[in-house]
Amino acid sequence: MGVASGPEVLFSRERIRERVAQMGRQIDLDYAGESIVLVGVLKGAAIFLADLARSISVDNTFDFVAVSSYGKGQRTSGAVKLIKDLDQPIEGKHVILVEDILDTGLTLGFLRSLFEQHQPKSLRIAALLDKPSRRVEKIEADYVGFTIPNQFVIGYGMDFAERYRNLPDICLMPSCRPQAPAE
Ligand code: PRP
Repeated sequence: MGVASGPEVLFSRERIRERVAQMGRQIDLDYAGESIVLVGVLKGAAIFLADLARSISVDNTFDFVAVSSYGKGQRTSGAVKLIKDLDQPIEGKHVILVEDILDTGLTLGFLRSLFEQHQPKSLRIAALLDKPSRRVEKIEADYVGFTIPNQFVIGYGMDFAERYRNLPDICLMPSCRPQAPAE
């Protein structure tokens, strides 16, 4: 089946909306009366951050970082490089790193270490999807939307060769074999 004939939906837009709203409510409870900085990791997290932020009532600001990618499943060195830094200092602030997917954990492991050097008041992670079977770096998200097996997913910000980020549902990439185990 090709994408033209419609990819298989894993999480519908309705299901995503419900889950993101729940995550927002949990964040509201956890940070009641506080201000938070939501830091999205470009580009995949852009759509999730936009929806999560609108599900949150506590005072918040946005920032974005970008890291270099060496190709999913082929990142053997574990080296991740920052290519766009924060715009605003996070020292003394409550920070939530917002990711579309936590896979090997190399990206968030790198960002967590980097951000901790800036001495935020607190640092948590919100990941819409979690693929624990692929983990290389010991890292867990504090807020997880859905836990999934080792499947290649597209849509809702997630791409295949930069395409399909705009699909409103999270879909399985057609004719895509499972990714090789992380090295
Ligand atoms: C994806 C995702 C995370 C990262 C997670 O980004 O958005 O940033 O991979 O994988 P990891 O846990 O194995 O590090 P990608 O490199 O595909 O870039 P993109 O966000 O621009 O799509």
